[in-house]
Amino acid sequence: MADRRPILFFDSGVGGLSVLAPTARLLPHAPLIYVADSAGFPYGTRSEAEIATRVPALLGRLAERYDPRLIVIACNTASTIALQHVRAALDVPIVGTVPAIKPAAELSRTRVIGVLGTAATVRQPYVDDLAARFAADCTVLRHGSAELVELAETALGRERPSIESVRDALAGLLSQERAEAIDVIVNACTHFPLLGDELDAATGGKIAFIDGGPGIARRVAYLTSGQEWPSAMPGRAVFTARNAHTETLVPALARFGLSEIETL
Ligand code: SIN
Repeated sequence: MADRRPILFFDSGVGGLSVLAPTARLLPHAPLIYVADSAGFPYGTRSEAEIATRVPALLGRLAERYDPRLIVIACNTASTIALQHVRAALDVPIVGTVPAIKPAAELSRTRVIGVLGTAATVRQPYVDDLAARFAADCTVLRHGSAELVELAETALGRERPSIESVRDALAGLLSQERAEAIDVIVNACTHFPLLGDELDAATGGKIAFIDGGPGIARRVAYLTSGQEWPSAMPGRAVFTARNAHTETLVPALARFGLSEIETL
C-alpha cells in the first residue's frame, strides 16, 4: 500500500518555497506539507538561543501531528543554528540547508564571491568552515540582510519590489572592498531566490546567483527513492499564526500546489 506520510518543509516564512518548488518538480506525486513559522518570523534577527530552542520544539510538535517521512529545514538560519538539536531530538530523517559556497567557488573565475544571508546565518562559524574547506583561495565577502527577507515576503504576497529597493539592500555587500570583482553570490537564505529577477536586474546581470534548492531537491529524491507515493494529494500549508500578511500569501501558496491552509 502507498505510504501517505508527507515530506514536511519548514521555514520562518515563504523562503522555503524555493526548496519545495524544485522538489515538487522532481517528485510530483509526493505529498507535501509546507510550514511557515509566521508566529516566529523573522528568524534572522533573533538570538541563537531562541532559535536553538524554538525550532526543535516546534518541529517536535509538527512531527507528532503530521507524522512526516522526512523533514526539510528549508531555512538557512534555522539549519545553521538548530539542525543538530533537531536531529538529536527527533527520530525522523532531517535534511538541512547549507550555504552553496562549494559550487560558488567552483564557478567563480574572479575568485571573489559573496555570501548573502541573514545576519544570524552569515556570522556562523559554520560559514567560516565552509569557506575554509571549499573556497580557501577565494575572497569571501558576506552580508546579512533583513530587508531582502522582508522584500521576498512582500513580493510573494503583495507586490514585486522595485529594483532600487533591492539595489539598496545589496549595498552592504557591494560596497565592501573588492566587491567590484564579485562574480558569484551565494543566496544563503532561502527567501532570496524568490527575488531572482530583481537580483539579476539590480546587479546588471553580471553576477551569477546560486542557491541550494536544486541540490536539496536531489537529496530528498535520493533519500526517498524506491518509496511508493499515493495518487495525487493537494499540498498543505500550515502557519503558526494567521495575520494580515499570511492572508496575502494564500493565493501565492496555491501556485505552489498548496491549496489546503491550516493554522497550528
Ligand atoms: C528570516 O526569517 O529572517 C529568514 C530566515 C532564513 O531563511 O534564513
